Amino acid sequence: MIRLQPPLPEGYTTSPGSDLARRIAAAKEALGDDLMILGHHYQRDEVMRWADARGDSFGLSRKAAASKARFVVFCGVHFMAESADILTGPDQKVILPDLNAGCSMADMADLESVEEAWDELSSVTDVEEIVPITYMNSAAALKAFVGRRGGAVCTSSNARAVVSWALAQRGPDTKVLFFPDQHLGRNTAYQLGFNAGDMAVWDPRADLGGLDEATVKGSRFLLWKGHCSVHQRFRPSHVEAFRSEHPEGVVIVHPECAHDVVELADMVGSTDFIIAAVDKADPGSTIAVATEIHLVQRLADEHPDLRVVSLDPLICPCSTMFRIDAAHLAWVLEELVQGRVVNQITVDEATAADARTALQRMLDIT
Ligand code: 13P
Ligand code: SF4
Repeated sequence: MIRLQPPLPEGYTTSPGSDLARRIAAAKEALGDDLMILGHHYQRDEVMRWADARGDSFGLSRKAAASKARFVVFCGVHFMAESADILTGPDQKVILPDLNAGCSMADMADLESVEEAWDELSSVTDVEEIVPITYMNSAAALKAFVGRRGGAVCTSSNARAVVSWALAQRGPDTKVLFFPDQHLGRNTAYQLGFNAGDMAVWDPRADLGGLDEATVKGSRFLLWKGHCSVHQRFRPSHVEAFRSEHPEGVVIVHPECAHDVVELADMVGSTDFIIAAVDKADPGSTIAVATEIHLVQRLADEHPDLRVVSLDPLICPCSTMFRIDAAHLAWVLEELVQGRVVNQITVDEATAADARTALQRMLDIT
């Protein structure tokens, strides 16, 4: 989806960092309790230092739901800001500092192709037995789709609980249609004791997902053919290279990584989980982390007693998270001080109502 962020007014992109920092601090002070800044762990340090709360997507959705601030400035990506809008009250406004901060994985599934898949599935199997689960990294319209069809949202920190819940919904033959990240879906199914024969990849560009009728009927998991380009870069060869150099080292990976990487890792979990695991590590440990580089770098900086490195020695930034910078943050805050709301993210009420059902199911399950 193309979302256009107009260029910033003069004076923002050319201002030195110290000037932007002073302006952000002054705007925060002026807005007081009316403002809450949420920061996802992949944000740059120049942004993250201003966050009133940091978290993974699950943690931030809870913070947004609990916030009473009039303005929630979401330093993250579009789907996170949409979820925050859905979970906050009608008088609260959610702002994304750069409208081009999307998520390429979320864009790999849209309502039209998911509805088409559902229709195709209904032509060969009983869709009453299918529970659709969407990863948080998806548009509000897809969260609404699953809300309407008895499904739920999940995040990387609660996928196991949500998928277990889904499997208990429709009897012993329940199937799960999981989108848009095939890797999180596959890793979760393996965690629950399923094997490769229970899963099939649904390719939205092919007739019947590129599958035959028997495969659709025989699969417990239909995994949408989507992925995160940042996490898909990590390969088993990176784990092997790290282990040969650091036989005592620890490998921690995000569940958006491919299953062959997850299998070789010592630990797997959400960004919050990764942070907690590094916090608990024994002094002197060497830890390779497979996730976005800003988080890995922050962990390395915050733990001088450890050696924290990226599992892939070549840097893996999320280019859309990176779009949020101090200049955009200063701009949206100074506009708020002037009484102008820019870059508000809104979800229409009909979509929001169904999406809220799916998000609330997730919050209730976990
Ligand atoms: P977390 O929920 O683990 O923070 O992940 C969000 C994300 O976009 C990872 O790529
Ligand atoms: Fe999306 Fe991947 Fe970036 Fe996460 S890291 S926001 S899944 S593109």
